[in-house]
Amino acid sequence: MVGVQLQMKTILVTGATGFLGSALTANLLAEGTRVKTLSRNDPGGDRVRAAVEKAARGFGLLLNDAHWALLSTAQVDFRDLEGTLAPRVLEDVTHVWNVAAEMSYSLKKILPAVDQNVVASSSLYDLAARHARQCQRFYHVSTAYTAGFGIEDVRETLHFTPRLVNAYQLSKWIAEVCLIQHHQEKALPLTIFRPSAVIGHRDTGWSTGVSFGLFSLAEGILYGKRKAVERIRLDLRGDSRLNLVCIDTVVSRARALLEAAEHRQPTEIFNCVGDEDFRVDESLEPAWIQLGMRVEFGPPQHEVDAELHRIIEKNKVFADTTWRFHSDQLKKVLGAAYVPQPMTQDIVRRSITHFLAHRLREIAQEPGAGEAPLSAPASP
Ligand SMILES: NC(=O)c1ccc[n+]([C@@H]2O[C@H](COP(=O)([O-])OP(=O)(O)OC[C@H]3O[C@@H](n4cnc5c(N)ncnc54)[C@H](OP(=O)(O)O)[C@@H]3O)[C@@H](O)[C@H]2O)c1
Repeated sequence: MVGVQLQMKTILVTGATGFLGSALTANLLAEGTRVKTLSRNDPGGDRVRAAVEKAARGFGLLLNDAHWALLSTAQVDFRDLEGTLAPRVLEDVTHVWNVAAEMSYSLKKILPAVDQNVVASSSLYDLAARHARQCQRFYHVSTAYTAGFGIEDVRETLHFTPRLVNAYQLSKWIAEVCLIQHHQEKALPLTIFRPSAVIGHRDTGWSTGVSFGLFSLAEGILYGKRKAVERIRLDLRGDSRLNLVCIDTVVSRARALLEAAEHRQPTEIFNCVGDEDFRVDESLEPAWIQLGMRVEFGPPQHEVDAELHRIIEKNKVFADTTWRFHSDQLKKVLGAAYVPQPMTQDIVRRSITHFLAHRLREIAQEPGAGEAPLSAPASP
């Protein structure tokens, strides 16, 4: 038969054992898209499968055998993609979503952060450009915080003189610069996709329970609860404003980009952010209410305040800074598919509740947990 067949998409996803990658993969499978994942320490793909199953539940998706048949996992060593990623895996790939990242802030982890976030991302781009003949675009998930400090307006452009403070932010910024440079040589269309602080699903509150971003501030409050104090002080500016974006918004904008055809550019940078900012104190209020604690904002007064500060310290500079993120380019490309994401107390509460419930279950399994003065909040 001679005719034009619609090409089925085959999306290569890295980071599918993590929060964003598992959510994206679950949603792509649910819509019937073939997904190939690259995963480390995952010979049979069981870690990817388990993470994607949880994400599907978190999104209220039912994946049947036909959906699972669309998923495959290749085990790779990201430190040696050239040697461990067989070119045949890339042959039918139509789009890459490079989500995996070393997330540690610690400057002691600068080398692994550069290895993964810069070198592995650049190698994957290079391999895709060489071997994925059908590849239309390489999507690289970066972070809105590559903007650094000292600027208020964050536009969808490369930042040339950002003031950066940790290994994660620094390596994510270098990766953006390297990939744009790579594009000039290899020409595979490139989209840098920058979410702000990602929180749980707007309806179910689902997240993986990893203490990152807003959740690491909630973790500080949880620490106070574990120390059985009723009142804590958080050394943060309660009136500064956070940009929070729900995981389902991130995924729906990522999926919409895979469909969008208008106004596309060989290289693109998009901020994927919430359309309303939210005060730090309002964002954390659900945590202290659910844990039955009193929280004040200001420098530590007691020992426990100083101890919990060590948990929130690395995020203080981010929480204390208000940025204005622009997303005109993303809006232009997505057109009617751009759905604004308002932020409400209820959305944040569901997210914090889910996170705390998850953490309290983990804590309950720790040795000596019986003595902890904790009970889980009701699920959202
Ligand atoms: N969460 C947020 O608020 C947020 C905000 C803005 C941007 N982002 C970006 O979104 C992406 C995913 O973040 P996430 O929240 O989903 O993180 P996550 O849940 O911690 O997942 C990280 C993923 O990257 C993989 N990974 C971590 N370190 C690695 C290393 N050294 N070598 C190879 N793979 C490694 C992990 O695989 P293993 O299971 O094998 O460790 C996992 O699949 C990242 O690019 C991040 O910069 C996240």
